[in-house]
Amino acid sequence: MIAARITATGAYVPERKVTNDDLARVMDTSDEWIRSRTGIGSRHVAVGESTSHMAVKAAADVLSRSGCRAEDIQFIIVATGTPDHLFPNMACLVQEGIGASHAFCFDLNAACSGFLYSLSVAKGYIESGMYERGMVIGAETISKVVDWKERSTCVLFGDGAGAVIIEKGGRGIGSMVMGADGKGGEVLRCSSSSILCHDEESRRKIDYLHMDGQEVFRFAARQVPAVIEAVLEKEGLEPDQIGHYILHQANERIIASVARKMKEPMEKFPVNLDRYGNTSSASIPILLHELHQTGALKNGEKLILAGFGAGLTWGAAMVEWNI
Ligand code: ACO
Repeated sequence: MIAARITATGAYVPERKVTNDDLARVMDTSDEWIRSRTGIGSRHVAVGESTSHMAVKAAADVLSRSGCRAEDIQFIIVATGTPDHLFPNMACLVQEGIGASHAFCFDLNAACSGFLYSLSVAKGYIESGMYERGMVIGAETISKVVDWKERSTCVLFGDGAGAVIIEKGGRGIGSMVMGADGKGGEVLRCSSSSILCHDEESRRKIDYLHMDGQEVFRFAARQVPAVIEAVLEKEGLEPDQIGHYILHQANERIIASVARKMKEPMEKFPVNLDRYGNTSSASIPILLHELHQTGALKNGEKLILAGFGAGLTWGAAMVEWNI
């Protein structure tokens, strides 16, 4: 059987860094409150940088670290819930931005699970023999869909983009399990598109991101271990055979709760949300890139990637690291 493998990683975050103390100067919050409940210390916020701009930067970064030329890329999938506009899609803008003229391009929205969902599509294209090489990007400007007057949500998120190249050959992306529960849609939603409202009056009517934080916590604490167990069962692996668990970076307490349920040490659950906040579909590829850059991932090591988010949606993959 043809296998699909991640062969390069890249990332981009906007220049503007906003610390918890910066937020405490403009709203009634504190570093202590945010850090103790979420693990977040700072985040990057896009100022004059769009989702497509960040996606192009991450795409150029991953390309420069790969052995591929732009014209060798056969497909581009951008996972995003915060595109610049409805169409053209972000992936077409990436294609134009990096000169990947032979790629077909589309976006995929599964909120914070978007990267995992996109990875499953890319894996399918390659394993079926339809295509040999593609790019998957997670890119978000969550800062434009949160209400900056609503301290219980705006402090949680950050902007950024992460990208991987997926190619045919070698051991790589193993079993994946995806899921969704549309009944949970109200728990985390953003129903009106601020991206379509440019005038002041329309913006006043924007329905920003809403979240029932405790319900999201319960959902993640239940569903993430379950989907990871499902992947491990398919692979015939025990939790201790996994080198690192790379989870969507929503909240350090969620990650700790998953680690406890898996009876695995927290050291196996890398965290970078202290510096980036929750970047939704970008969080897993940004973290993967950082871990790869710092040499934290060993070739042949088995990883679990797991995402969860609005929809409700979730997904997990076993990846044998082999770059
Ligand atoms: N600073 C200071 N006080 C705050 C802040 C803030 N930023 N936000 C809320 N508070 C106050 C509230 O006003 C409330 O005060 P009150 O008791 O006087 O009314 C108090 O803190 C508790 O508010 P809750 O909303 O009940 O806060 P909670 O303890 O549930 O913590 C949190 C909120 C951290 C979001 C928690 O619910 C959680 O960990 N949820 C997990 C979900 C999550 O992390 N989602 C991220 C995005 S979703 C995703 O990626 C899939």
